[in-house]
Amino acid sequence: MELLEEQRETWGTRGGFVLAAVGSAVGLGNLWGFPYKLYSYGGGAFLIPYIIAMFCIGVPMLILEFSLGHFTQRAAPNAFARCNKKLEFVGWWGVILGFVIITYYPTILAYCLSFMWYSIESIVRDTPLPWAGEGVEGVENAKNFFYDTYLGYHKDSALGGFQWHIFGMLLGAWVLMYFCIFRGVKLVGKIVWITVPLPFLVLVVLTVRGLTLPGSMEGLVYYLDPTWSELAKPTTWRFAFGQVFFSLSLAFGVMVTYASFLHRKSDINNNASIIALSDFATSFIGGLAIFATLGGMAYASQQAGSSIGVGDVVAKGPGLAFVAFPYALAQLPGAAWWSLIFFFMLITLGIDSAFSITESVLAGIVDKTGWKRGIVLPVMSLVGLGSGLVFVTQGGLNWLGTVDDFINGTWGIAFLGLLECVVLGWFYRVENLRQHANERSDWRLGKWWNFSIRVFIPVVLGTLFIWSLFDDFSNADGFIRTPEGEWILPNCVGLMIVGIAPVIAIFMSLMKNPNRQDSIVCEKTVSDKCTTQGRSASGVAFAVSVVSGVMIVWLAAAGMLEGLLLYAAFALGMSGLLVSNYVLNRYDHELVTPSKLARCAGIIATADVSACIAAVLIRLADSSAGAGVEEAAKSIPADKLGAVSYVILGVVTLVVFGGLGWCFYRAIAAFGSDEPVEEMK
Ligand code: PHE
Repeated sequence: MELLEEQRETWGTRGGFVLAAVGSAVGLGNLWGFPYKLYSYGGGAFLIPYIIAMFCIGVPMLILEFSLGHFTQRAAPNAFARCNKKLEFVGWWGVILGFVIITYYPTILAYCLSFMWYSIESIVRDTPLPWAGEGVEGVENAKNFFYDTYLGYHKDSALGGFQWHIFGMLLGAWVLMYFCIFRGVKLVGKIVWITVPLPFLVLVVLTVRGLTLPGSMEGLVYYLDPTWSELAKPTTWRFAFGQVFFSLSLAFGVMVTYASFLHRKSDINNNASIIALSDFATSFIGGLAIFATLGGMAYASQQAGSSIGVGDVVAKGPGLAFVAFPYALAQLPGAAWWSLIFFFMLITLGIDSAFSITESVLAGIVDKTGWKRGIVLPVMSLVGLGSGLVFVTQGGLNWLGTVDDFINGTWGIAFLGLLECVVLGWFYRVENLRQHANERSDWRLGKWWNFSIRVFIPVVLGTLFIWSLFDDFSNADGFIRTPEGEWILPNCVGLMIVGIAPVIAIFMSLMKNPNRQDSIVCEKTVSDKCTTQGRSASGVAFAVSVVSGVMIVWLAAAGMLEGLLLYAAFALGMSGLLVSNYVLNRYDHELVTPSKLARCAGIIATADVSACIAAVLIRLADSSAGAGVEEAAKSIPADKLGAVSYVILGVVTLVVFGGLGWCFYRAIAAFGSDEPVEEMK
């Protein structure tokens, strides 16, 4: 395996990189996105797919992206191209979806800037915060202030008037982002020493305040007690998985790009684990703070005679954080100061995520075209700002939510993550990346990782994709048109965005690249001496996978996707998958190449197996729909956490603190020693 010897600009220190990557991962997604998605999609039940996705998919994929970026020393598009010329479009696809994020992410930063401004005003004028109030009045004020006074919110999908005061702040957010990155990653590596640790302090204060509000327990019940029937809905899984990708900045090329600036000798595996654990910890604590507060809000309302519970106290949706946090802040002594500090923190938390995306788009374009950063950055910022104007209208919050859902849902990164694993697993020797990561890491990945990238993750994401697709289109309310034949505009626009992304991506990858004299250093050149092996096994795997595929299509067309025939199709698909995986493991070496049939068989079989599992899940979900009603009816005592909640709380605390402790221990143990470390099985 050839290694690139050149050294590009680096982060300076290990801490610089870890913090920058934590900075990218930990952002508004943790305090704004995670709580409202959890609240909207299943409450405590959401935590289960979230935790599964975080550790079974998030961490292995983070290692994949780090090692890809570090190995190739290129931003995402060129990194993929260096593995295999034809894969460049996958990198661009992520970069383009990342670009969509930077059209709306700064709008949320703009909200934070505004709230910070209101806090300053109230300090200077020595007046209470504009949303402050006692008891139930406080609850109402917090809601009305954000939705009515600040946003002038329209519930429907019409845009409504343009909000100049938000636009002013949006401009401010872009200027801030611009100044953070125009000097390159060295500066970013320094800024994050401040922007990353500070927010944690305030978060802890808010959590304590939330937990000491009367009624907070009821909120925690909502947060931690899973309603099992929610797990039968694909939306719960889809948004949990999407949120993990979003939160770890995965599949947007950001982590590939950041790792490309990492020093040649730097650790990969341990860093990835530290980053994922810190990200999870932040979201989890953010959730505690918000739900304890919601409990407090519900209690205050109930004291005034209202019968609403935690589940209805604030509208579910992307406005949650801007109602619940301000409410909690207003309950603190010295509220305006705390509010100032909190929103300042939120900005520091979000700004490094925002500029990480900008940096990834920028580095992608600069690497490809050789144009100057100094020109691309301002142009890109202006385009980003211009496209973001729709979110600065009265209906902007709805649009923001929908676009975010599309990017994070089935059609956006879940599919892209699937594609990333499939192409690197089947069309590239992913073992190269494992070795690369292991050669410089505090601890080593076992061979299970290859299996997880090539087989496990694609099957899980594939299943989710098919299940969600089915769910979207079988929805009685319609997906792009209502039963009355009216277009559902935000969904149409969302679909258009995710549909256009691959087209632009392919176009970009076909463009000539003046900067690629160095091309394809890492691709194994299939020379004349290379022998193709495993033909017969691949042939069998291919035949079996095709038969399984045909069976599935036929069964689906006949509406009989169940029973013995389905299991037979599954068994055939699974054998095709395992045999082709075996062929790739066995015959992909320096002078040997596996038959192309094995690669095709692998992909077809992945689709087969995913379709079969999805079919079973659809049935199961159907049959549990009735049972779910029953379960929802038996309500949990409102102020007591159930045993499962304690288990979740215990497991999360153990995983986060135990995990971080272990990572730091390995880092210290490996410090200064060049001894190879033993393999993790
Ligand atoms: N991970 C960031 C957050 O949680 C957002 C982000 C998404 C950053 C995608 C980069 C890429 O807020």
